[in-house]
Amino acid sequence: MSQENKISVALFGFGCVGQGLYDVLNHSEVLQANIRKIGVKDPSKKRSVDPTLITYDKNDILDRKDVDVVVEMITDTDDAYQIVTTAMKNGMNVVSASKKMLATYFEELYRVQEETGKALIYEGSAGGSIPIIRTLEEYYDNELLSSLRGILNGTTNYILTRMELENKDYGVVLKDAQDSGFAELDPWMDVAGFDTLYKTILLSVHAFGVVLKPEDVLNLGIQNISFADIRYAKEKGLRIKLIGSAAKSGDKFRIYVMPRFVRADDELYKVLYEYNAVEVEGAFSCKQTFVGKGAGSHPTGSAVLSDVSALTYNYKYAYKKLRKLEKQNNGKNPGSAALETDFSIRVYIRFADKSDLASLDIRNVIEEYKSPEVNFIIADVGFKSLFALKGNRDSKVFVAEV
Ligand code: HSE
Repeated sequence: MSQENKISVALFGFGCVGQGLYDVLNHSEVLQANIRKIGVKDPSKKRSVDPTLITYDKNDILDRKDVDVVVEMITDTDDAYQIVTTAMKNGMNVVSASKKMLATYFEELYRVQEETGKALIYEGSAGGSIPIIRTLEEYYDNELLSSLRGILNGTTNYILTRMELENKDYGVVLKDAQDSGFAELDPWMDVAGFDTLYKTILLSVHAFGVVLKPEDVLNLGIQNISFADIRYAKEKGLRIKLIGSAAKSGDKFRIYVMPRFVRADDELYKVLYEYNAVEVEGAFSCKQTFVGKGAGSHPTGSAVLSDVSALTYNYKYAYKKLRKLEKQNNGKNPGSAALETDFSIRVYIRFADKSDLASLDIRNVIEEYKSPEVNFIIADVGFKSLFALKGNRDSKVFVAEV
């Protein structure tokens, strides 16, 4: 860094977030960033920047000596992992917004940070514009957090809001979410709860120190939602929200992603369209809710900009909770051993045919509704059995926690 607040950056990816960052960087009055290069994949795409900035060869960036910070915002998980780890090994600090890559390779990335002493920060990877990761990491570094839950995906919240308030069809609003730059390239990631899963995993690292693998954590989505479900919620004065939650349960944690009926007095009820919210509960602070735009080019770009800015004063995550948990577990993160999965959970299940329920461990039926149009039950279900529905493209049932 040549002078205070002057930093040389290179970007990987110039899609929605990349362009958003480019705009917010150019409007920043304090941070002066010198963009050296922008690495992209597709030579056939027209780019709205000085063509001499563009490169198609990642080593054009990774081998440079005049780049302080690499900002990685690409879709391909394995390419992103290669870029991020190589950049750190080559002496650069890294900002990333690739939630899937970060959650999938968290252990390896943590190790590379330890080995190289370089920073990898990723505020833009969860909660869009909400400054939640640094808040969990810094502000709550000594607070005994008991739970965290949030609306962490803008696309699904946008779909749920417009279905309910505007009576719009699922497919139509999903298309609008894609056109607005909210959705992932593969929107299945949004609607089936995977995007929320990755974000919940990252927030759990910073809230509790626990490092989980995406395959070990349950995520159910809204891909099968219908107006019947929205109507049912409305009649009861409730709203359906897709929620990622992590709660302490003794020495263990209940961490999962699931649609949930929320009451009108719940802070998350009021969070509409592409807005996200995270509610944190601590022993002393009690409940606190953070709300902000969760998707879109500029909101996410602003979180990435804040990370780039933090690197001008050599910011790094201290991972205090993670280190503490490792210490308590003979130097190893407990990982999925810290997950509690042996419990039952009360859910609403809408289905077409009784055979749709065959894989579920239904323990206690509270309510049953049958009509020519809609069948649903409310029941206590063995939590583990819900894993049969995770990412299951054949299943047509809609499940929501009540
Ligand atoms: N597809 C994501 C969302 C983008 O809808 O929230 C922001 O991470």
